[in-house]
Amino acid sequence: MAPTKVPYLDHHATTPVDLRVVEAMLPYFSQQFGNPASVNHAYGYEAAEAVAAARAQLAQALGAEPRELIFTSGATEANNLAILGLARRTPAQRRHIIAPRTEHPSVLDPLRYLQRQGFQISWLRVQEHGKPDAGRVDLDHLEQLLQKPTALVCVMLANNEIGVIQPVEQVAQLAHRHGALVHCDATQAVGRIPVDVRRLEVDTLSFSAHKFYGPKGIGALFLRRRDPPVRLEPLLYGGGHERGLRSGTLNVPGIVGMAEALKLALQELPQESRRLAELRNRLWSLLEEALGDQVVLNGPVLDRPQLRLPGNLNCSFVGVEGDALLVGVSQHLAVSSGSACSTAEPEPSHVLRALGLEDALVRASLRFGLGRSNTAEQIDQAAQAVVQVVRRLRSASTCS
Ligand SMILES: Cc1ncc(COP(=O)(O)O)c(C=O)c1O
Repeated sequence: MAPTKVPYLDHHATTPVDLRVVEAMLPYFSQQFGNPASVNHAYGYEAAEAVAAARAQLAQALGAEPRELIFTSGATEANNLAILGLARRTPAQRRHIIAPRTEHPSVLDPLRYLQRQGFQISWLRVQEHGKPDAGRVDLDHLEQLLQKPTALVCVMLANNEIGVIQPVEQVAQLAHRHGALVHCDATQAVGRIPVDVRRLEVDTLSFSAHKFYGPKGIGALFLRRRDPPVRLEPLLYGGGHERGLRSGTLNVPGIVGMAEALKLALQELPQESRRLAELRNRLWSLLEEALGDQVVLNGPVLDRPQLRLPGNLNCSFVGVEGDALLVGVSQHLAVSSGSACSTAEPEPSHVLRALGLEDALVRASLRFGLGRSNTAEQIDQAAQAVVQVVRRLRSASTCS
């Protein structure tokens, strides 16, 4: 039997497609269904025009030029394209890449693959659990690691588990001073906080529509084309689409939907991020009030908006068993422990481990991702459900 639907507090995993986005996409399935690469008839033209308009709109929203966006199937592909595509152009003496261990698996796995191919990967330290800026990269350590000739530094803009926002601009300035390029996974940031590729000074940046109320299966990679242009090798060869960097017929409805979704998300961003931060803070206060020191905040402090995504809360519960916690809470709420979107085989969170959190607390952690549909009433219900489950599990474990 399928589980019953409960309030959805897992917006880091994915978001529902906004109905206004569905509407914008609909004509491109069966009326304007042409292939934008068909240059000799009107069906192709109108599809190509829709793609060009969406590309221009997305580029403008991110401070990029239209020719700097490469459409992909999502952020996993965009991260792979950036990392592997840049690595394939790296001279032998620079086969060194720097990244924190808190990156998403779609960054970590290509890096581990490159390590097997002879690249040296240096793991950049992050601030430890309990510090106000827990999870932020250590810039002094970065400077030390950059003493070795380096091809690339990978730093995500916002983390999918603890919501920490990285000082990407400072990372990029340091990296460039040492001749290294910078790739930024901005999947959790785009549509949630302002993102401007020029201000961040990054060379490549990935994002994905399904994190900002757009469709699944569409994303893009920003690739800097000036001052100076950055070059990468494609991963897919075929019809030479996307200036030869990503062959394959373009997903026209997806591209149109992604542009519409970002437009709407940015229009609503100032009010929505204030609202989500308030709801998130309310959730934390209710948990803390009821559970005291039995609940531990993971990641950076909540009262500095520049350090943490507004809708993110991650916390651990002392003295409860992780699986029982998730099973209990899942009857009332859709949340995740660790990072459900990142792996088909859930493992205790590599992010919380990298912060130095002890294993029992890593296992007994919950990640809340608040989004558009959440109300204050749901937050109160969520806090009540979590408190009830934690109390029940703690009393069961002290009785046995
Ligand atoms: C930070 C981050 N990077 C990359 C991805 C992968 O994105 P996609 O689902 O578009 O492949 C996700 C989510 O799954 C994510 O949260």
